[in-house]
Amino acid sequence: MIKDLFKRVHDYLRISLTDNCNLRCAYCMPADEYDFTPASQLMQTSEIETISRLFVEQGVKKIRLTGGEPLVRRDAASIIETLGSLPVELVITTNGTRLHEFLSVLRSANIRTINISLDTLQPDKFMLITRRNLFHQVRSNIELLLQHDFHVKINMVVMKGFNDEEINDFIAWTTHIPIQIRFIEFMPFSGNRWTNDKVFSMDKILDKINNQFEFLPVKGEAHDTAKHFMIPGHAGSFAVISTMSAPFCSSCNRMRLTADGKLKNCLFSAGETDLLSPLRKGEDIVPLIHQTILGKAKQLGGQFSGTFEMLDAEKIQNRSMITIGG
Ligand code: GTP
Ligand code: 5AD
Ligand code: SF4
Repeated sequence: MIKDLFKRVHDYLRISLTDNCNLRCAYCMPADEYDFTPASQLMQTSEIETISRLFVEQGVKKIRLTGGEPLVRRDAASIIETLGSLPVELVITTNGTRLHEFLSVLRSANIRTINISLDTLQPDKFMLITRRNLFHQVRSNIELLLQHDFHVKINMVVMKGFNDEEINDFIAWTTHIPIQIRFIEFMPFSGNRWTNDKVFSMDKILDKINNQFEFLPVKGEAHDTAKHFMIPGHAGSFAVISTMSAPFCSSCNRMRLTADGKLKNCLFSAGETDLLSPLRKGEDIVPLIHQTILGKAKQLGGQFSGTFEMLDAEKIQNRSMITIGG
């Protein structure tokens, strides 16, 4: 079992397959020119398998594949197939643009729930955020998943003055469609131009929804990042991920492996532990895993408290989101 000093059991591993992406979202990419990591520096399929097996032996029960965009990696299908044979719940977070090429692979790997990033329902605004003309591809892929009985969660990062006016359009989408919309408070990462006035907090999100819809809280799972709500009569539901205004670190069970094989003990950890180099030298990486998690801070990587209004994002030491994977 992998435990930290606060007795939190860590049984959920997020593995980034690549820092490459076919979209260019400003809140995720660093502001400066960015070179994607060359394939030789990334964990190879067999290395991902070996490391994953070690984590599973240490008690990991859930693995989430992330990116960049995990499905742009050339050997994504074989990685998914390989991890699909491990005794874990395998899930994925994707921008949705390539899902139509992966339906059968996902199904045979027993992936039943897919988290899709989609911050707007307006094609023009999608182009503004992502700088790519793929809105209709994402929408049709969501339809395709639903037709094939996948559970779909939509991740909508709310940015004040940019897409907060669309919150109730997303809620309206749940009237007849069995999807879950997750409104996410905008978080600071290296180079993503975060300022506290762009955060649209959970309270404001709920106020806005309350203006048009009646909703009820729903009890979630122990380690949820999201607070869940239902709207009577709606086929779908919604949730809020409130890292900035109401962090949920006390029940954290997450670890992150970057595409270049570094273990992060928190989304906001300043430090990271190289697992790939010692693995390539034939060393035992299990003690490194335990040490890294024992070094985990109580909350938010120990880098800030819950009061985002006072936060100076420049002082946070971290990677850019595209190299963490969310
Ligand atoms: P489920 O496993 O379905 O609960 O998904 P998830 O919320 O863990 O994963 P997803 O990749 O869909 O991430 C949705 C949002 O939650 C993103 O903005 C992530 O950055 C954020 N998130 C995921 N894990 C953590 C975490 O450990 N801490 C914090 N603060 N945010 C997280
Ligand atoms: N703040 C909050 N969520 C973010 N994501 C990416 N960047 C940010 C950010 N700055 C979300 C995306 C994706 C998930 C992995 O992380 O919506 O779905
Ligand atoms: Fe866990 Fe860090 Fe996320 Fe808090 S911010 S829930 S400690 S990963």
